[in-house]
Amino acid sequence: MSTKFEIFDTTLRDGEQSPGASMNVQEKLQMALQLEKLGVDTIEAGFPIASKQEFEAVQKIAKAVKKCRVAGLARALDEDIKCAAEALKPAEKSTLHTFIASSPIHMEYKLKMSPKQVLERAKEAVKLAKSLIPRVEFSAEDATRSEWDFLVELTKVAIDAGADVINLPDTVGYITPSEIKEMFAYVIEKVQPPENVIFSCHNHNDLGLAVSNALAALEGGARQIECTVNGIGERAGNTSMEELVMVLHTRNDIYPYSCNIVTTEIMPSSNLLSKLTGLKVPYNKPIVGRNAFAHESGIHQHGVIANTKTYEIMTPEMIGNVRSTLVLGKHSGRAGLAKRCEDLGYSLNKEELDKLYEKFMALAERKKEIYDEDIILLIVSLHQEQIETYHLEQVRTAGHDPYTALVKLRKGDEHLMDTAIGDGPVDAACKAIERITGVSGQLEQFDIRATTPGKDAIGEATVVVKFNGKSITGNGSSTDIVEAAVRAYLNAVNKYIAIRDALENH
Ligand code: KIV
Ligand code: ZN
Repeated sequence: MSTKFEIFDTTLRDGEQSPGASMNVQEKLQMALQLEKLGVDTIEAGFPIASKQEFEAVQKIAKAVKKCRVAGLARALDEDIKCAAEALKPAEKSTLHTFIASSPIHMEYKLKMSPKQVLERAKEAVKLAKSLIPRVEFSAEDATRSEWDFLVELTKVAIDAGADVINLPDTVGYITPSEIKEMFAYVIEKVQPPENVIFSCHNHNDLGLAVSNALAALEGGARQIECTVNGIGERAGNTSMEELVMVLHTRNDIYPYSCNIVTTEIMPSSNLLSKLTGLKVPYNKPIVGRNAFAHESGIHQHGVIANTKTYEIMTPEMIGNVRSTLVLGKHSGRAGLAKRCEDLGYSLNKEELDKLYEKFMALAERKKEIYDEDIILLIVSLHQEQIETYHLEQVRTAGHDPYTALVKLRKGDEHLMDTAIGDGPVDAACKAIERITGVSGQLEQFDIRATTPGKDAIGEATVVVKFNGKSITGNGSSTDIVEAAVRAYLNAVNKYIAIRDALENH
């Protein structure tokens, strides 16, 4: 018999707060809807007081998500708490998450507060939160470097003030598995919480122990785990959702705990997140890395062909992954494409399917063999187009030192065109985009990689562009690498325009 625990997903808060992972409101909403499909119990949607955009993202997610609770973060300050409660108002089920630091070093140097003052602030903060939102989570920041008896006292105060969830975070990724198990067991034993109160664990991965520590926290009595898709988060990241869930799936004999995650939604969630943020998953990352199920050596391949269990402890299908299969070509019909999309977990309406088919045929003209990954890229670019201001119609480059580029864009029904010269074809094309859109940015980073095998593979470009001091990631793909780079640059320009317009309209 497995003991149930809850998944509190913080991809859109702690995850999004990490460098290079920022998403705009629309992207956060798209990710939240995927997290709902994934089956997380709570989505921490953001930190509403941090910016107007954060507030709007939490509010929109609170309105759109129906099956999960939506949480908003607030420091233990009245202003933060009122702001988070306001953003969470449209939610059917919500959690107000408030926190204050509890370690000696944080209390003395960061808060400049005595332990007594911290106890008092925590009490007032939870009380206020509880008067505004029915479910309150209280976090003792840097709990793992705090004195355990102080944690006991603080926890009691928070529960008495109305907290429903007590989170003891390993904020700096310092604790080890045996210690965290003992810490949870100790605090729970001393506090003797009422039945409706659960303990939560939130680990950072500075020493690579976040998942092991989460497993140990479950053994110590935690019944909620805070984690992120692809393990993104501050510094070295948070507990990786997919690793935790698949340990429990694969080794339930050792860890008899279960949650509501739909494992076949793991890969679509991982893919979507890296597309939205531009943060690529390392090839060797457990579960969702490109090589996680790849068998390169002849001995392994021979074994897997004879019986997959020789070298596989899980199957790619379990996590919604697809073995890289050759699926379609120029002569495949619309029905074949629709069926493949369905198998890949994408449900498209007729209009979307028509547009996708058009793109698919255009790609099939340039590329003999079309793989699942190609189709996923086409679907992602289709979704991108629906929310973007400028669309690339054509890019032509020529010459050598200097290069010239001609770029044609569409904005609604308007067709726009300009030319520019630059140090290379991409530079020239970006300058032409700048002339058309009036938005100028500095290219800070540029990466390109092949998505599928073969000389005619699709190149997937990721760029980081700085606009007015703000770094924005863009993605684009094409069989032509210059076009892929230009698409990625234009994607970043479109994101910047969306952010700028949202701020101006407030
Ligand atoms: O790492 C941490 O302590 C946090 C808290 C706000 C929960 O992210
Ligand atoms: Zn954190």
